[in-house]
Amino acid sequence: MALKRVGILTGGGDCSGLNAVIRAVTRTAAIGYGCAITGILDGFEGLITKRSEELTVRSTRDILTLGGTILGTTNKGNPFQYRELAPDGSIKVSDQSDRAVENFRSMGLDCLFVVGGEGTLEIGYKFFEKGIPVIGIPKTIDNDLDKTDYTFGYQTAIEVACDALDRLHSTGRSHQRVMILEVMGRTAGWISLEAGIAGGAHIILIPEIPYNIERVVEKITAREKGGSPFTIIMVAEGAKEEGGDVITQASASTRLQGVPQLGGVGFHLADQIKSRVDLEVRCTVLGHIQRGGSPCAFDRVLGTRLGAEAVRAAAEGNFGVMVALKTPFITLVPLKELAGKVRSVPADSQLIQCAEAIGISMGR
Ligand code: F6P
Repeated sequence: MALKRVGILTGGGDCSGLNAVIRAVTRTAAIGYGCAITGILDGFEGLITKRSEELTVRSTRDILTLGGTILGTTNKGNPFQYRELAPDGSIKVSDQSDRAVENFRSMGLDCLFVVGGEGTLEIGYKFFEKGIPVIGIPKTIDNDLDKTDYTFGYQTAIEVACDALDRLHSTGRSHQRVMILEVMGRTAGWISLEAGIAGGAHIILIPEIPYNIERVVEKITAREKGGSPFTIIMVAEGAKEEGGDVITQASASTRLQGVPQLGGVGFHLADQIKSRVDLEVRCTVLGHIQRGGSPCAFDRVLGTRLGAEAVRAAAEGNFGVMVALKTPFITLVPLKELAGKVRSVPADSQLIQCAEAIGISMGR
C-alpha cells in the first residue's frame, strides 16, 4: 500500500535502543517510501492528548547512540483503563480508547508503530481490534516477550549488569565480603542468569527457582572453608524464597500504574545471610542504570533491523503483527499470539543446566 504518513510511539519503561528504532523507522519510511512520519509523544498519553512532533531524517540525526527515547514514554497511560489521580487522592479509572482512535484518525496516519514490551503491545493489539493498523516492535530489558529470540535493550542491560558484577568482584575479593547485586527483570530471571554467568557469580537467584536460604548459606560457607571467604550473589528483583512472596515497594507510581513496583529482595537476602554467617555482607541495587545510556552494538543493529522491517511490513499491508527476531531473520508474528504471555526462563533451560554444571548455586 502507498504509505503517506505513519505514526510511531514508544510505551512502557524505556531501554537502550529505542532511538535506534525511531531513527530506522523514520529513515526507511522517508528514504524508501517518501512517507511523512509523526512521532507521538509520551506513549499512548500523546495519543489521548494529541501531542506529537514531526520526525524527519534531519531531526533523527545523531540519535542512534542516544539512550532513552526522544519521544518520551510512560508506563502509566493505558487508554483502556486510564488512571488519574483525583483531588481527594483517590484513583479514577476511565476508558479513553475511543478518544485515542479519534485522534489517530484526525492525525491522518496510515498506521501506528507501537514500540513496547508485553503491556504496551497488548494495548497495541486492542487498538488493532478497534480498527487501527498497528505494527508492534518488541523492546524491554527484561527479555520476557514471547515469540522473539531477543528484545532490544536486553543485551545492553546485561552488559551493564555484568560490568557491575566485575566491579563488585574486585572490591568483594579485597574485603572478603559477601557482595549481592540486585538486578531488574520483573518476573523473569534472564538478566540475573545471563549477566550472572557472564560476571562469574557464585550464586544466582531467579524468580523461576524459589530459593532456599539454607542452600545459599551452604554455598557461602563452603567457599569460606575452601579458602575463598568472598562470595558474589546475583539476585533478580522478582526472586522469592520457597513459600515466600515477591518483595514489592509501595509507591505513588504503583498506584497510577496499577502494577506493583518490585525491589528489596537484595537487602532482605543480606539480612538473612548476616543472621546466619559471621561475614560482612553488602548489597547493591543496580536499578535504572540498566535501562539508561547508549545501546550496545547488538541492540543498535537489532533495533535498526526491527524498525526497517516494520516499515516494510506496513508497506505490504501487514498489520496486527509484531516484528520479531527468529535468528537470523526478522519475521512477523500475529500480536494475538502474544496476548498476556510472559516468557520466563524455562525449568529445563540449558542456561540453568550450564550454570549448575560449573558449580554456580541457584539457591536450591
Ligand atoms: O520492565 C522493565 C523494568 O525495568 C523492570 O525490569 C522493572 O521492574 C520495571 O521496569 C521498573 O519500572 P519503573 O520504571 O516504573 O520503576
